[in-house]
Amino acid sequence: MPVATRIEEVRNEITQLAEAAPSAKALMEGVCKILHDRMLKYNWVGFYMLEPGAQPPILVLSAFMGAMTPHTRIPLNQGICGAAASSGKTIIVDDVSKDPRYLACSLETKSEIVVPVFVGKQVSGELDIDSHFAAAFGPEDQNLVQYCAEVVGSKLEKFQ
Ligand code: SME
Repeated sequence: MPVATRIEEVRNEITQLAEAAPSAKALMEGVCKILHDRMLKYNWVGFYMLEPGAQPPILVLSAFMGAMTPHTRIPLNQGICGAAASSGKTIIVDDVSKDPRYLACSLETKSEIVVPVFVGKQVSGELDIDSHFAAAFGPEDQNLVQYCAEVVGSKLEKFQ
């Protein structure tokens, strides 16, 4: 199956799930499962959410699929995760070995994408995906992952 077709299918599955999911947590769990099961190069998929009221702010591991990571709590001044949450921008790293910010989760990880989740104009967390393949995340992947982060942000807004 061409990758564009698979991405289209996965996007439709995410749309259906977003309509059906009874809570933001259920949606996050479903997004992790669909992306991990269907996107062959997405080897670790997880959400980190900002701990409510924490000062200084800290990201806490939420729903995920893949091996357990040593990084369950990440301050905003650490890691690619911290950089994405503090800047509010998507970060794609084609070769994690060349990025000094990178916090290793698995020795097999070669590339990573981190997309902030917004509730209104505020970052409330992020969707982090690691791949065992270098430069696994192209523009279509970025669109798909940003779409997933958007539907989770909308669901969080609804349930606030
Ligand atoms: N690699 C991330 C840490 C999270 S683990 O990959 C799951 C980072 O550099 O922030």
